[in-house]
Amino acid sequence: MASELDLSSSFIPSLYKPAALLPIARHRQSLLYLVETYPVTIVVGQTGSGKTTQLPQYLDQAGWCVDGKTIAVTQPRRVAATTVAARVAEEMRCKVGEEVGYSIRFEDLTSPATRIKFLTDGMLLREALVDPLLSRYSVIMVDEAHERSLSTDVLLGILKKIGKKRPELRIVISSATLQAEDFLRFFAGEELQKDEDSNEIGGSVGRIISLEGRMYPVDILFLDSPAEDYVERAVKTVFDIHSQEADGDILLFLTGREEIDTAIQLISEHAATLRSKTQSVLPLPLYAGLTTEQQLYVFEPAPENTRKVIVSTNIAEASVTIDGICYVVDCGFAKLRAYNPNTGIETLTAVPISKASATQRAGRAGRTKPGKCFRLYTQQAYEQLPDVAIPEIQRSNLAPVIMQLKALGIDNIVRFDFLTPPPAELVIRALELLFSLGTIDDYAKLTKPLGMRMAELAVDPMMGKVLLSAQTFGCLNEILSIAAMVSLQGSVWVQHDSDRKNAESMRRKFAVEEGDHLTYLNVYQAFVTKGKKDSKWCRDNLLNYKSLQRAVSIRAQLKRYLERFGISVDENPPLSTSRGPDLSGQPERVQRCLTTGYFAHAAKMQPDGTFKTVSGDLTLYAHPSSIMFNRKVDWVIFHEILQTGDKTYIRDISKIEKSYLLEYAPEYYRVK
Ligand code: CDP
Ligand code: MG
Repeated sequence: MASELDLSSSFIPSLYKPAALLPIARHRQSLLYLVETYPVTIVVGQTGSGKTTQLPQYLDQAGWCVDGKTIAVTQPRRVAATTVAARVAEEMRCKVGEEVGYSIRFEDLTSPATRIKFLTDGMLLREALVDPLLSRYSVIMVDEAHERSLSTDVLLGILKKIGKKRPELRIVISSATLQAEDFLRFFAGEELQKDEDSNEIGGSVGRIISLEGRMYPVDILFLDSPAEDYVERAVKTVFDIHSQEADGDILLFLTGREEIDTAIQLISEHAATLRSKTQSVLPLPLYAGLTTEQQLYVFEPAPENTRKVIVSTNIAEASVTIDGICYVVDCGFAKLRAYNPNTGIETLTAVPISKASATQRAGRAGRTKPGKCFRLYTQQAYEQLPDVAIPEIQRSNLAPVIMQLKALGIDNIVRFDFLTPPPAELVIRALELLFSLGTIDDYAKLTKPLGMRMAELAVDPMMGKVLLSAQTFGCLNEILSIAAMVSLQGSVWVQHDSDRKNAESMRRKFAVEEGDHLTYLNVYQAFVTKGKKDSKWCRDNLLNYKSLQRAVSIRAQLKRYLERFGISVDENPPLSTSRGPDLSGQPERVQRCLTTGYFAHAAKMQPDGTFKTVSGDLTLYAHPSSIMFNRKVDWVIFHEILQTGDKTYIRDISKIEKSYLLEYAPEYYRVK
């Protein structure tokens, strides 16, 4: 067995660490034994030990894919699913989509030949709608379970149920931290017992295996006094490391795209002023909105005499492994979802990380040699951090999940077996929203056909409602395009910092006073009529060709869903033609239709230009990327809400009439 591994590893390009040297390699036999013997195997190992990339290959080689079965490996993030699939395909010398594939929302790169399939945990839940026992999989590996994402938690509950009906199914749970016993206890339930001889818990249900990886010591350094602006402080720290420390790449943790872009720019500017010709600095961003190619840059070795500085969200905390990091700079914050049941609004807010996260982040520095971690906070602040983060299920809008559970036949949410039950308040609020959307009836059952269809669509309940109402408003064509555009991750506008003015005037060409949604529609329609075959058109208009192509593909998929429901989409003639902006009544239909789904995201502009939510207790700002930025309106609905610094921004905004709210959501606004 060993010689076979040596042989294959000697063919791996030299920049890769041979798989046989990864910490997991020594545990191959025990891992396969545990999976063979127990329904549940919990694998604990530090980031980089080889859990995600190697374990599925071991299972495949050991025969878990004979009789056409597949191994599923779930990831909480899309980025992780795609990059890891690319890596494993490379190791198995195939193309992504052949033996190794991935499936994320609106993007399925698998084929009948696929034996190892990486997918987001949300996608696997969706598959359960058509295949309730997930019978095509022989092994399901829930990766990064310690992150406790909303979908991971729900998936674990579903898998526990499926496991009872399919004793041959193998469940592997991988975790980078020591919450392993919680997972085992959850699966073992009443069977939990202490085995006298081996001192192991888990009975006949499962076992925990730890892959203690080789780790070099990491020096931890704190600030003496708190940093005023951690982005600036981070950039300064990067250059202190660059001038004072030995070779080795730097990994800088910030919270989100905007901070990362700022930091990258500051680093580039400062790097240009450096005298030293011997060592240069190469800053690279890593966050979820990047294209796959952009994300892959961070894995490439830096050119000679260059120090890579990867500026990342907490994606790099555990989900993806980057070799060669010796220095970590940790800002101490991460963006987390937080749902406010009073306002009914879910924000993405930067909050202090947990001690477990801080340890994870520091650990990224000690993989190839001893490293250093610079924490941009005081030791005192560290002591006050919570031990672990609150699971997402306890701080999220649960409407999408409850809708999904109901579609899976789980009606009694309160009695569902959750790893950690969600607070009653969040459940009630979600039921209220679903009821107002018409997804569920008075008995909290999914309505037919609306609720059932909403659950089948690959979009959140609010957008689902809009799509399914569009036909009655006579604007289905338009809504399909709009839904595709707002489902894109990342902007359709190419950002040229050097040329903000020009970008603004380009954007204004497509802008309509009704707001962002109809502006998107204009962009989309112009793209399909003029720009689809001509990427120069996009460049000239500062539009992102790839994103727009993706919008075309998403639209086609949404259209297929609707057609499956028997809703026919009449593409001809497009209601707004090249004759120009004369849409005669069409904008109003679109605005009304949007309100049927987004009534819960309504706000009214105040005299000072900010917005207030209906309940009045949240002040919102139009995001600078919105057409509504610096414009006067009265009532609006919005798609997205995000928090940057101490301001809460709304994005993708459209004008509406107040009366629409009462017309389309009487219950919701009566409750208030
Ligand atoms: O899942 P876990 O954190 O335990 O490790 P892994 O992601 O399987 O990574 C194992 C090895 O593969 C590490 O040395 C990574 O640096 C490498 N890897 C890589 O070079 N490129 C990727 N896209 C993924 C992993
Ligand atoms: Mg992993």
